[in-house]
Amino acid sequence: MLRTTTCGALTLDNLGENVILCGWVQKSRDLGGMTFIDIRDRYGITQLVFNMDDNPQLCEAARSLGREFVIKAGGLVVERSNKNLKIPTGEVEIKITALEILNASKIPPFLIEDETDGGDDLRMKYRYLDLRRNPVRNNMVLRHRMAQSVRRYLDALDFIEVETPVLIKSTPEGARDFVVPSRMNGGEFYALPQSPQTFKQLLMVSGFDRYFQIVKCFRDEDLRADRQPEFTQIDCEMSFIEQEDILNTFEGLIRTLFKEVKNFDLPEVPRMQYADAMRWYGSDKPDTRFEMRFVELTELTKGKNFPVFDNAELVIGINAKGCAHYTRKQLDELTDFIKRPQIGATGLIYARHNEDGSIKSSVDKFYTEEDLKQWSAALQTEPGDLILIMAGVKDKVRKQLGELRLEMGSRLGLRDKNVFSALWVLDFPLLEWDEESERYHAMHHPFTSPKPEDIALLDTNPGEVRANAYDMVVNGTEIGGGSIRIHDRALQALMFKHLGFSAEEAQKQFGFLMDAFEFGAPPHGGIAFGFDRLCSIFAGLDSIRDVIAFPKNNSGRDVMIDSPSTIDEKQLKELKIKSTL
Ligand code: AMO
Repeated sequence: MLRTTTCGALTLDNLGENVILCGWVQKSRDLGGMTFIDIRDRYGITQLVFNMDDNPQLCEAARSLGREFVIKAGGLVVERSNKNLKIPTGEVEIKITALEILNASKIPPFLIEDETDGGDDLRMKYRYLDLRRNPVRNNMVLRHRMAQSVRRYLDALDFIEVETPVLIKSTPEGARDFVVPSRMNGGEFYALPQSPQTFKQLLMVSGFDRYFQIVKCFRDEDLRADRQPEFTQIDCEMSFIEQEDILNTFEGLIRTLFKEVKNFDLPEVPRMQYADAMRWYGSDKPDTRFEMRFVELTELTKGKNFPVFDNAELVIGINAKGCAHYTRKQLDELTDFIKRPQIGATGLIYARHNEDGSIKSSVDKFYTEEDLKQWSAALQTEPGDLILIMAGVKDKVRKQLGELRLEMGSRLGLRDKNVFSALWVLDFPLLEWDEESERYHAMHHPFTSPKPEDIALLDTNPGEVRANAYDMVVNGTEIGGGSIRIHDRALQALMFKHLGFSAEEAQKQFGFLMDAFEFGAPPHGGIAFGFDRLCSIFAGLDSIRDVIAFPKNNSGRDVMIDSPSTIDEKQLKELKIKSTL
């Protein structure tokens, strides 16, 4: 070892010890007779002191050190006269008797401090420097602790960690595949896994019984704050279980994580039907840190000659508590918010339940005070509350009001990052109609089992079939999802048929899985958690980028290594790919 201790370890207990420290120069102060250097490593910061009277040569050397130089310094632990009680090592300093520069550093492009002056792009380009900063590194430490906690929990329950291949064949999970050309099989491609779904099912056929893997997955989809093209799942599968067993086992995992990593007692996770989540919150991942449920006003608002409500399939409202004082400008802001193209609503109706008890709406022309009182009763408003109403086609208007509900939750400070609310959403529809391709797609994936009692509906009303599928949601983010699987060849073939695959196509793409089902496939099911999402929620961050050591930017680029990049003609030729440039 080049050092005897780290920069975060020394306290008054170590007075009089001779120590050697290694680390980076955080800061130096030259006070003429004395030079102070703060030396930093992963563990903390320690003050080094160089005295001109004791050793002018060393003091000169210290003065020449620039920020981020890597040094090795030896000396005596002494008590500091000017103590810094904010850091664990702040009561001592090291009187230096030996100094060695291990490596010099250019002036870093941004301040390597908790608060930095570096913009996003610059910090991404020099990510290795950004990772020297405490807040960024702490996120990685948190991630590490979470991964260890996951492994301990699952290992104790007899789950076996198995690595599955990264060069595979495309599995349809909704997103586009990243593909890798094969040199040895010219003109053919591997796909990077969107998840290890089929492999974990095959491991169940192999009798592994309980599998998990903390695994990289790849999806070529548009990026958002909670999406990266390569991300990590805690992927799990179990045999001889029912949905209830999966819910209990993995609720246990999440509660253990909260306890071990955040010392937070997550209460028992409530369960909600998918249909109710949509009806009450307009979302399959409702943020349940606050209530503000939708109330249906369709019947109450019809027949008063207000065309917007009369013509609407659904009229729904929320009670924004304490917002009756909102000014015209604030209400206009809300209207602009829901009219943004991302939300696409046409308008917002409001009614103020004033402090004096009167109720005034933006559609007073059509509705009497008596009508408004009925709205107020339905939404259980009190004086000071504001009713916000939207109308339109059922599914659309629910989603739109769902966005407004979240906006109001944020405005009212109801989405505190230090509050955690988890939820199971159950009984997702098996299939989802896709307008573009004009056919049904599997809402989760094609291996998800329909509820046995709904199988008959597959022929008559496919959109109504419910799946044995579940998501876990924390604070409005889908952190995990899974299902009970089909383990019977005939049912799997039927499922592919309903998804528009011909028997040949199904055999070509998934014959390996269906064949396996003919060799004693046990009943099985599983779940995968988005590990990056879990980490970012635990860290109180908005973006999963901040819990990934080397993330991609919003255009899917790694600006540090400058990837993706072109490859040369020779490589293309070897791969039998024609350049289109
Ligand atoms: P699903 O597609 O729901 O299920 O993915 C599981 C979880 O992975 C996370 N996730 C992502 N995180 C970051 N960036 C992305 N691009 C991204 N996409 C998904 C989410 C999601 O809940 N094989 C099935 C699981 C199963 O059935 O067992 C699957 O992959 O948190």
